[in-house]
Amino acid sequence: METVLLSDSATGLEKAAEFIKNGEIVGIPTETVYGLGADASNEDAVRRVFEAKGRPADNPLIVHLADFSQAEKYTLSIPALAFKLAERFCPGPLTMVLPKNDRIPVITSGGLDTVGIRVPSHPVMHRIIELSGRPIAAPSANTSGYPSPTSAEHVMRDMNGRIAAVVDGGSSEFGVESTVISIEGGSTARILRPGCITREMLLEICSDVIIDHAILHELEAGQKAASPGMKYKHYSPRADIIMVEGSLDSFIAYVGKQNGEGVYSLIFDTDRDGFPYRYMTYGKNSSEQAHLLFQRLRELDDAGAERVYVRAPEKNGVGLAVYNRLIRAAGFEVIRV
Ligand code: TXA
Ligand code: MG
Repeated sequence: METVLLSDSATGLEKAAEFIKNGEIVGIPTETVYGLGADASNEDAVRRVFEAKGRPADNPLIVHLADFSQAEKYTLSIPALAFKLAERFCPGPLTMVLPKNDRIPVITSGGLDTVGIRVPSHPVMHRIIELSGRPIAAPSANTSGYPSPTSAEHVMRDMNGRIAAVVDGGSSEFGVESTVISIEGGSTARILRPGCITREMLLEICSDVIIDHAILHELEAGQKAASPGMKYKHYSPRADIIMVEGSLDSFIAYVGKQNGEGVYSLIFDTDRDGFPYRYMTYGKNSSEQAHLLFQRLRELDDAGAERVYVRAPEKNGVGLAVYNRLIRAAGFEVIRV
């Protein structure tokens, strides 16, 4: 199959919407990362999304809607807290897990009786949902296990020949995937995957916000994941990723002992002056780190990195999202120096 690169012009978006209506798969920019969009109600289209990514069948897809009011069409019930959260954070990088109804096929929900609902703010994704008139199921548009794509070029590299089209909407604003939450009781949210809607932001609306244990810890054998995505190794480039926690001086001393061919460091912008080994930087604060992380992981592979020592980000605010992606890319290997 030839994968066409579409521009984000009116004609490009109309073509993309036509593909979706015809059961085809399209790479679509969102404010978080690029998604692999298909009609969420078309079982055959959704099956091909799983195939194109090489994704395990029990890992559910998020359903993207143009407006949160449409969520009633696809769910059994919506708690009052979800409406309050939607008022504050939708459209935007928040996914709420809600009880699904029969309009969402079980293949889309990975066999679960819930569905993740998200109202993306990116005008391209928003317009394609409107023009197609379909709920759009969209996982991140990477090969399963590899870092998520934050540009049309990343999507092309992973998906060329496997999908109908990619819409080029430039580089993704946030760079990490949406915050995924479930709602517990009347006013508590549980974060299943951290993102740019932070715990602190959710606390403006919720009386309590629980950070699920699996966000920072490896699931033990036989333990059930609240979100299936937590079970799988994720976001990994080919290179081995090793997170190192500690001061810059201890980091430099540690890397010095490990240095050799194919060894890189991924450091903060502020560490650059006089850094003695081969490195790339990934920003100077959590938002920049989120924006750059996946792109850098791909660039490290392109540069031929075999082993990458990463300066560990903060664990609060948006930093928690960056830390969560890195600890998974590192297979939970963290070294404290
Ligand atoms: O920002 C995003 O969310 C991007 C863009 C394209 O919208 N999409 C995305 O989808 O990251 P994906 O499939 O790569 O990640 C979805 C995550 C997975 O970890 C999945 O297990 C979890 O959300 N998830 C989806 N539906 C769920 C559900 N019903 N219950 C629990 N977890 C769910
Ligand atoms: Mg993904």
